[in-house]
Amino acid sequence: MSENDIPWDDLTATAREAMTKAYVPYSKFPVGVAALIDDGRIISGCNVENASYGLTLCAECALVSALAMSGGGRIRAFACVDGKGNALMPCGRCRQLLYEFRAPDMVLLTVSGIRTMDEVLPDAFGPQHLA
Ligand code: THU
Repeated sequence: MSENDIPWDDLTATAREAMTKAYVPYSKFPVGVAALIDDGRIISGCNVENASYGLTLCAECALVSALAMSGGGRIRAFACVDGKGNALMPCGRCRQLLYEFRAPDMVLLTVSGIRTMDEVLPDAFGPQHLA
């Protein structure tokens, strides 16, 4: 599948649907994410906050957990949206979460267009450094 074959509309729609499930009583900033996995399935996640603010789980945490729970795999493409459904950049920590499970050609739909993982997290630390 080439970059042009990525079903960006489906990914964005799935991320927007996930965003409606967010639990955000503190920030009131819902986030939804969706990813295309290398076997073709689409998984999603939303952010889940906590009265102990620092324990907030970003939407990407839910996504990588869903990935593991649904059989694992590698992320081919990723979309993240805010409460208006607009593209949102994943935070730095979550770029690292995504990096761990990237497919070699992973791409992200960002505020500045389609970007590679290397563009959004250059010179990344990763599993290769622990070998
Ligand atoms: N948030 C995410 O879920 N993912 C990101 O990549 C950026 C930030 C959430 C965490 C918190 O619930 C809210 O956005 C405001 O920071």
